[in-house]
Amino acid sequence: MKPVKIRTLQSNDAEALLTFELDNREWFERYIDARGSAFYSAQGVTDHIAAYLSDFAAGTWHPFVIEDPNGKIVGRANLKGIDMPERSAEVGYRIAQSACGRGLATLAVRHLIQEAQSHWNLKQLVANVYAGNIGSAKVLKRCGFLIEPVSGHDGTEHEYRFGLSI
Ligand SMILES: CC(C)(COP(=O)(O)OP(=O)(O)OC[C@H]1O[C@@H](n2cnc3c(N)ncnc32)[C@H](O)[C@@H]1OP(=O)(O)O)[C@@H](O)C(=O)NCCC(=O)NCCS
Repeated sequence: MKPVKIRTLQSNDAEALLTFELDNREWFERYIDARGSAFYSAQGVTDHIAAYLSDFAAGTWHPFVIEDPNGKIVGRANLKGIDMPERSAEVGYRIAQSACGRGLATLAVRHLIQEAQSHWNLKQLVANVYAGNIGSAKVLKRCGFLIEPVSGHDGTEHEYRFGLSI
């Protein structure tokens, strides 16, 4: 596998991020909740980045992108809902369909764990995964997360919660 770079999202990522999200929209929507259609425009993605960076500045969110050696965005990973008093956060990630199966999500989750420790001094991470998302569950288990079944949003689809004490 060629080396990839994981870095914090930047305000000038809008064009590359829109390309990544549009290219993989259908792929992501098979496994995670769909975004609103307004997101898929230059303004929508610019607003999305501004909101994430505002939350980063406020210490409640840490958004990362994964770049291939050519500088193309091939994945995203987030520490979400950072709760400093509780010293906890949720992890989220998505990898381009064309880049899957090469260990990128595993790399991204390990990076999130490392950042949660070294940058944010957190003690607890959680992740929510739909039951059919076998690849995602495998990534979490490989990174040390333990499974805890919970009921789905509306009782129609089953979701699992994973947790990691760090
Ligand atoms: C889930 C996802 C993040 C995995 O990314 P990835 O970079 O392919 O992950 P990795 O390569 O680190 O590991 C995935 C592992 O799951 C395995 N896997 C993937 N799909 C599988 C399936 N349907 N059945 C069994 N194993 C599966 C892969 O073979 C791999 O295992 P291996 O390394 O032992 O071969 C990616 O498919 C994705 O972004 N999906 C859409 C968005 C999403 O689901 N995000 C997570 C929300 S909780």
